[in-house]
Amino acid sequence: MEFVRNCWYVAGWGSEFTRELTAITVLGENVVLYRTSDGALCALQDRCPHKLLPLSKGRLIGDDIQCGYHGMTFGCDGKCVRVPGQDNLPEKATVRAYPVCERHGIAWIWMGEPERAVEDDIFHMTEFTDPAWAPHFGDALYLRSNYLNVAENLCDPAHVSFVHPTTLGNPESEDVPIHAERDGTTVITSRWIRNAPPVGVFKAIADFKGNVDRWHYYYLYSPSIAAIDFGSADVDADLADDDRSQGVRIFALHFLTPVDDTNTIDRWMHIRNFSLDDDEIGGRMNEQFRIAFAEDKDILEAIQEEENKCPDHRPVRIAIDKGANMYRRIVSDMVEQERQELQC
Ligand code: FES
Ligand SMILES: [Fe+2]
Repeated sequence: MEFVRNCWYVAGWGSEFTRELTAITVLGENVVLYRTSDGALCALQDRCPHKLLPLSKGRLIGDDIQCGYHGMTFGCDGKCVRVPGQDNLPEKATVRAYPVCERHGIAWIWMGEPERAVEDDIFHMTEFTDPAWAPHFGDALYLRSNYLNVAENLCDPAHVSFVHPTTLGNPESEDVPIHAERDGTTVITSRWIRNAPPVGVFKAIADFKGNVDRWHYYYLYSPSIAAIDFGSADVDADLADDDRSQGVRIFALHFLTPVDDTNTIDRWMHIRNFSLDDDEIGGRMNEQFRIAFAEDKDILEAIQEEENKCPDHRPVRIAIDKGANMYRRIVSDMVEQERQELQC
């Protein structure tokens, strides 16, 4: 599988990184992360250029990593600063240093050409810092599935009726058509389910007395971030499409890290516009999300097993695939563009 390289991927929640050496894999590349003594993040290729021992098996000496085999030592910029037993430092004794940045409690890593890393390009939503909204972190979900299938699931409102019947969907939405559009490299799929009973997640957190209008707007930012705007309001409120902040509204955020061809980490969290100071509500919502995302994991891992057996399978296309097809086209164009730029 080819990946888009010139973009910021999530390396982990900021809280995952300390003064310990932490090994991760992103786009098939092994990376070691740690914090320097002033708290800054440092990310290096996790492979000593001498005999290839992963540097994560070594230890920190101050802010440098000492290889655990023969003690070659590397700084945060990837340059060798010491070779035990000799004074000269071989020119090729460097490891790749990756641009990293921390925003909103999330550690981001740039896997492409370092000179093209611009921190302003990191995913941002004003709701992260808007006092009218409350962010609440979730988990890191490991999926034995390629990231394209995981992302496709995150621009697919149709599956919730069948995969998440107790939490995010119910039978009333089974036949409601889906609208899909493209805005640059973002795919937006949406639908409203009007005048239907609330789904499980809203029963657990809000006290709706009767039927509700429910919306799902899936924003899939290619290649690997999804923000799902979903919520409900009393039918009597008769909300217009762009009046969603009047209802109980949630952005479910999914940051996908492609580990390799067949493994993905989905770090998820939510931002909500109600019960802002009530951490217990956030925890209750996470319990609902855990049920739902375990259902997705089950489906996606079963699909991956079948894809491994039939890699040339061409799927039958149906109407609800429009958003997913747009997404795959966008990613394929991004990969191709990077490939052409590399040839120039
Ligand atoms: S393998 Fe790292 S110093 Fe020898
Ligand atoms: Fe799902």
